[in-house]
Amino acid sequence: MRRIAIVLALVSCSRSTSPSKPPAIIFRSNEPHIVDSEAMKRAAGVTDIEGFDPYYQRKKHFRGYELAKTLVKSLDLPIETLRKAYFVMRAKDGYEVPISGERLLEPGAFIAFEDVDVPAWEPIGPQRAHPGPFYLVWREQHQGNLDTYPRPWQLAAIEVTTFELVYPHVTPPKTAAAPALRGFDIFKDTCIRCHAINREGGHVGPDLNVPKSIVEYREAAQIKAYVRNPLAFRYGNMPAHLHLSEVDLDALVFYFKEMSQHKHDDPAKNP
Ligand code: HEC
Repeated sequence: MRRIAIVLALVSCSRSTSPSKPPAIIFRSNEPHIVDSEAMKRAAGVTDIEGFDPYYQRKKHFRGYELAKTLVKSLDLPIETLRKAYFVMRAKDGYEVPISGERLLEPGAFIAFEDVDVPAWEPIGPQRAHPGPFYLVWREQHQGNLDTYPRPWQLAAIEVTTFELVYPHVTPPKTAAAPALRGFDIFKDTCIRCHAINREGGHVGPDLNVPKSIVEYREAAQIKAYVRNPLAFRYGNMPAHLHLSEVDLDALVFYFKEMSQHKHDDPAKNP
């Protein structure tokens, strides 16, 4: 991550020296300043959120602040500006997830601060982590896919930036053919959280462009079949993408072919 325009960070109670101090938000444009959860509450009110939670695999009940309202009021920027921005959400445990403003500002996103079902937070995920003090949840039924609607727990920061600043070597040239640009959009939306291109992006799965592009050692048909249903090939941690159409999968291959012409392999970047 290079330069960041504005940083909105949620600071946990536990880090505060005084236990009575409410959790707070840090904003950093040039100067950091802090807004506590009371201010989040004034900005967005408190909402009861009930619905199916894909991590807990059942219906859950939380209380939280509406994310779009909190961002608009706290950053003092119009929602249209934020929709055009790009965000990186960071969790205390080091997990980071990039997300477009268009997605993050959809109605339905909430910063949950309380698990109403149990007195304290119920442990979450394979490591049975403590999700508090802030867990990002999505309320609407169509927002249950963890690939496209990520739910970081122990949410520590929300940084406002642009995609190009975070990932300068993932974007194809503007002159690229339309299918490659479409493939790029899909990649940004569904793949980059786990895969890097030119060493930029997630590290859960392999880099798909360097040192060799995926299209240099796998047939297009095989890439498409694998992306749609990886578990048909081998058991691993790559999720299936059954919702991607034939056209989407072709577009992804076009994007990989385009990027294979724009390799950038800087060892100073993460492995
Ligand atoms: C949740 C994380 C995750 C997401 C999201 C994800 N992948 Fe993967 N992907 C992986 C992992 C992990 C592997 C390695 C699996 C293995 O080796 O069995 C992998 C492997 C692959 C491979 C095979 C590479 C090779 O050389 O065999 C391709 C191609 C691939 N992913 C493409 C994609 C595309 C395209 C998307 C988006 C539509 C995507 N992945 C989304 C985690 C992910």
